[in-house]
Amino acid sequence: MKKYCQKNRCKIYGPGSDKKDNLRDAFSGAEEYHNNAIQKLDRLHYQRRKLIGEIYRMRLMTVTTIAELRDSIKIMYSSAGFIQRALNSSRPYICPFHTLLKHVPQNSTVLDIGCGSGLFLNLLAYRNIVNTATGIDAAKQPIITARAALKVIEPKADIIFEHRKVEEGLPDMKFSVVSMIDVIHHIDPNYQRSALESAVSRVSDNGIFLFKDIGSRPLWRAWANRFHDLLLARQWIYYVKETDVQDWIEKAGFQLVHQETINMWWYGHNLMIFQNKATSKSGHNNA
Ligand SMILES: C[S@@+](CC[C@H](N)C(=O)[O-])C[C@H]1O[C@@H](n2cnc3c(N)ncnc32)[C@H](O)[C@@H]1O
Repeated sequence: MKKYCQKNRCKIYGPGSDKKDNLRDAFSGAEEYHNNAIQKLDRLHYQRRKLIGEIYRMRLMTVTTIAELRDSIKIMYSSAGFIQRALNSSRPYICPFHTLLKHVPQNSTVLDIGCGSGLFLNLLAYRNIVNTATGIDAAKQPIITARAALKVIEPKADIIFEHRKVEEGLPDMKFSVVSMIDVIHHIDPNYQRSALESAVSRVSDNGIFLFKDIGSRPLWRAWANRFHDLLLARQWIYYVKETDVQDWIEKAGFQLVHQETINMWWYGHNLMIFQNKATSKSGHNNA
């Protein structure tokens, strides 16, 4: 140590040297070294974060458990208020997103009608499944929450959330997947059929209409959900019979390719997937 200090002192104060120049050189050398080290650390830190992000995304692409979905929702909605965060991260317990997500093929374009705070689209975007997507909802606050989550995700996909009712018209383009998740029972019964017809009119050739609603039977499950909506949405809801939904959509030129009942707690979910009849021979991805 002593030797080293002496050596430096010698360099700085040595015979025949200009003291100030030597000091300046020594300091600028140290400063450059320090800046380079900081830049290297920054680069390493950035690469580490990128790697962790990639690993996380890859895991999410393969895992579809409720717990994993909740983890990603907590990240996506980290900028929302406490109640919104709690409501959104609890939703996978009562709504089968782990099943719904599997029905959306890679590189889809999606229109989600009644998207709420954007859970379905944001989860799809987070997993890099969608290319383009639009979510619309009649309520303003959920759209603000959906947009805030989108800022956290920074997806590669082009995602838009719009505040509008289905009655006010839908985007003037076709989508490979149009979804309606737990929305139809909130719509005025006089408009339910035309809302469904309007939704399927936006499904492209070979595309699918993903319809999920609370089943109208058994009655006890339907009533349990009615209480849920009275409490949380403060709304009297109007169930549509599954057979009516099937009838209306088939009459619009679609074919039912998948139907499933999923019970979670006291909620009874009815999932129906319809495909454009003209091209349904190419098959639906039931992965
Ligand atoms: C139970 S939430 C479901 C939200 C979302 N689909 C999900 O599964 O998380 C029902 C949503 O439908 C929306 N909604 C009700 N009537 C609507 C209408 N006429 N047009 C568009 N959205 C509507 C509500 O604002 C609400 O956000």
